[in-house]
Amino acid sequence: MKILFLDQSGKLGGAELCLLDIAKPYKDSCLVGLFADGSFKELLQQHNIPVQILTTQSIQVRKESTFLQSLGSISSIAPLIAQVARLARDYDVIYTNTQKALIVGALASVLTRRPLVYHLHDILSTDHFSSTNRYLAVTVANRCASLVIANSQATQAAFIAAGGRADMTHVVYNGFDIRNYQQHQLHSEQVCNQLGLAGKFLVGHFSRLSPWKGQHILLAALAQCPENVVAIFVGDALFGEEDYVQQIHQQVTELQLEKRVKFLGFRSDVIPLMNACDLVTHTSIAPEPFGRVIVEAMLCGRPVVAAQAGGAVELVETGKTGWLVPPGEPTQLASVIVSCLNQPEKTAAIAYQGQLAANQRFDLQVIEQQLTQLLNQVNIK
Ligand code: UDP
Ligand code: GLC
Repeated sequence: MKILFLDQSGKLGGAELCLLDIAKPYKDSCLVGLFADGSFKELLQQHNIPVQILTTQSIQVRKESTFLQSLGSISSIAPLIAQVARLARDYDVIYTNTQKALIVGALASVLTRRPLVYHLHDILSTDHFSSTNRYLAVTVANRCASLVIANSQATQAAFIAAGGRADMTHVVYNGFDIRNYQQHQLHSEQVCNQLGLAGKFLVGHFSRLSPWKGQHILLAALAQCPENVVAIFVGDALFGEEDYVQQIHQQVTELQLEKRVKFLGFRSDVIPLMNACDLVTHTSIAPEPFGRVIVEAMLCGRPVVAAQAGGAVELVETGKTGWLVPPGEPTQLASVIVSCLNQPEKTAAIAYQGQLAANQRFDLQVIEQQLTQLLNQVNIK
């Protein structure tokens, strides 16, 4: 099957890392069309996946845009739609991975009669989207898509609650190449030494720096933990959240955490860094659609504590495969951190159960089979 994948981002967010894995088996028969240049293009090229930047003009629909603003933007992207339609004639399916890609892909799908797939990575709720953008995404998907893939039940439920058609929506979790996660355990001491954090209880946070990812919650929790608990923040501001970056640095100073916190920026070596952590935290204050970092920590056999909302609830069984705490609640987070510090054996046992569960549920090979089956159904309709 020949697939034209479309994604609006040139940056490496979770949706793009998920698409990379989905595109790999199709690398001889697909094209990934991006609406922006950036490190995502380079990563696709490193994996020999054909990629083309389809526009360098930014599409001005923001997550909070009004209806008129959104319509105005659509008229400005007519050349992009024409280009996608031209390309789509050589492919069997148009597979859209983001909201703007959906709008462009839908119009190209109407023009070329190629079936449209929408991989929904976001919870279409007011936390993340204006009512206009939710309406646009749901209406276009209902009218034009043959298949909507939701990255969790929470994402699926929000799509249906916003008026999305239930009959064409299927949940497919992100898949992971589980072999990659276990080979770095031996080097964790070395990594701690390199970070200058040997002998400390190391808490990891792996997310882009953004208010809703809640790095400030971990900082507040850290201030309630003993001095030997330290944290690394891995990730960068991807979408212009510079004010937030300033805010959390200020918080570090106010809480006098300078010696206990390191910001490492965006890293492509997440797995060895995770393996070096005694605990991985996920602190999103709005429901997380899926939460790749939670699964990655589990696959590394590291204990994980996540914010109890959205897809995270489907990933972690609290007290069995990890812990869930109410979002935006530093005190309860601190209490989980301290209990992990004080009960290493129980913590290791739970992390092991988490690893077993994650190996079983998120194996890329199994997820690929689910996707292929769904795509084959779309292709023969
Ligand atoms: N990630 C990374 N380098 C970093 C920070 C994060 O490669 O410095 C990866 C992380 O391992 C995960 C993804 O970025 O695979 C983030 O996905 P997630 O679903 O957790 O959140 P999103 O940012 O997509 O909302
Ligand atoms: C989005 C979501 C994240 C999810 C990822 C992959 O970026 O914010 O929760 O894990 O897509 O589906």
